[in-house]
Amino acid sequence: MKRQLALPAALFLLHCAPVGDRDEARLPCPVASIVEQRCQECHARSPIGGAPMPLVSAADFRAPAKSDPSRSVGQLVLERIADDHDPMPPAPRPRLDQAQLKTLREWIESGAPDGAACDGPAPDGGPPVTALTCAPDVHSAPASPYLVAAGSSDLVVCYGFSLSNSSKRHITGFAPRVDNAAVLHHMSLLQSDEAFSTTPIPCPDSGGMASWRVVYGWAPGAQAFELPDAAGFAAEPGANFVVQLHYVNVGAKAHTDGSGFSLCTSAELRGFDADIMAFGTHEFTIPAHGSKAVTCNVAVPPTGATTRLFAAFPHMHRLGKSISTRAFPAGGGSAVDLGSVDTWSFDYQSWQSIDYVLAPGDVVQTKCAWNNPYSHGVGFGPGTDDEMCYSFVMYYPRIEDPAWHWVLPALYSQCEP
Ligand code: HEC
Repeated sequence: MKRQLALPAALFLLHCAPVGDRDEARLPCPVASIVEQRCQECHARSPIGGAPMPLVSAADFRAPAKSDPSRSVGQLVLERIADDHDPMPPAPRPRLDQAQLKTLREWIESGAPDGAACDGPAPDGGPPVTALTCAPDVHSAPASPYLVAAGSSDLVVCYGFSLSNSSKRHITGFAPRVDNAAVLHHMSLLQSDEAFSTTPIPCPDSGGMASWRVVYGWAPGAQAFELPDAAGFAAEPGANFVVQLHYVNVGAKAHTDGSGFSLCTSAELRGFDADIMAFGTHEFTIPAHGSKAVTCNVAVPPTGATTRLFAAFPHMHRLGKSISTRAFPAGGGSAVDLGSVDTWSFDYQSWQSIDYVLAPGDVVQTKCAWNNPYSHGVGFGPGTDDEMCYSFVMYYPRIEDPAWHWVLPALYSQCEP
C-alpha cells in the first residue's frame, strides 16, 4: 500500500540534502523528509517536549545515546520506531509505515553516512516546496528507480501504484517527492481505472491513456497542495494511480530517479468529492520563426453543472509567453481571473488559489501566446518539444455525468484566430 523507494545505501550519497543553515553532516534527502515530518516536531535542533536529543544531522544519529551512551542514537531509533509499547513517534501520532521504517533501517544499518550537499541549485530545481500541514500517509515510488540514459532529450515514463484501500478515502493533500532534480522535468499524478506496471516503463500512447485523469501536476516551482476543508479527491476502494514522469538528461552521464508523490488520505470523508477539468485548447500551430496567440472560449451549457473552482494550474511548455483564464459571468458583470501568468516561465509553475462558482451560461476564456525560435512549426502534444495551452482547474462537486470527461472544456473551446 504505502510505497517508498528502497534505495541501496550507496545511492543516498547521490542525493541532495536540504540546505542547512549550518555546515554540518547532512541527512540524505529520503531520511530528512521522514525525520522532518515525523520526528523534528520534538527532536528539533533545540529539542522540545522532553525529547532528549536533536535528530537534525547525520552526526546526531551517530552520537552516543543519552539514555545509554554505550549505544548510538541510531540504534535506539531502530528500537523505538519498532517498539509497540513505547513507540516513536509517540501515540496518538501514526506509526511510521513500512517504507519509512525500511528507509531508516537501511540508512542506520549502513552506518548513518552523511548525505551529499547539492552542488548548486539543480537545473529547473525551483524554489523549495512548501510542506504539507497534513501528515502524508501514502508515498508513491517506482518498484525500482528508472535509469535515465545520457542524452535523453524528452522521455516520458509511467509507473502505477494503488492505495489498496478497502473503503472509499478522500485525498486531502499532495506533495511532490523529487528524487533527482537534475533530470526530472515535470510529473503528473493521474487516476487510472486499471492497475499499471509498478516498474517504470514508457507510457502508452494517448489512446491507451484515455481513461487516465490528471489529479495533480508538479513542475519545477510548483508547491505542495491541500484541498479546502469542504472537499477531497475520492479514492474508491482499490483506486489506481499512475505517476507520469518527464525526464530530460542532456548530460553525458546516466541518472537514476525514483520520484513520486506523497499524499494525505483519510477515511473520514469530507462533504464533497473534488475533481479536475482542463480549459484551453489543443488546436494551434506556432509557425516556424514566429509567434502565435489564441483566444479560446467555452460556455457552460444550460444543462451543465454548477461547480466551485478553487485552484488553477496554468500549463504550457518552453515556448510559452503568457497564459490567462477568465470567467465571464452569465448575468454580465466583470470578468473574474481564473489563474494567469503574464510572463510565462516553464521553470516556475504552481497551483494558484482561485474562488469562483461556475454556472450555466458562464463563458470561460483562455488566452495563450507563444514564440517559436525553431525552423519547424510546433503544435499541441505531451512531449516537451510539443506545446500546451491548458489551465487545469480543481473544482467540486465532481461532475458525475457518464458522458463527462475532464478534457471536454478544452475540446469544446472555440478559438481565434
Ligand atoms: C511528540 C514529540 C516526539 C516526537 C514526534 C518524537 N519523539 Fe522521540 N522522544 C520524545 C520524548 C519526550 C522522548 C523521551 C522519553 C522517551 O524516551 O520516551 C523521546 C525519546 C526518543 C528516543 C530515545 C532516546 C534515548 O536516549 O533514550 C529515541 C531514539 C527517539 N525518541 C526517536 C524518535 C524518532 C526516530 C522519532 C521520529 C520517527 C521521534 N522520536 C519522534 C518525543 C518525541
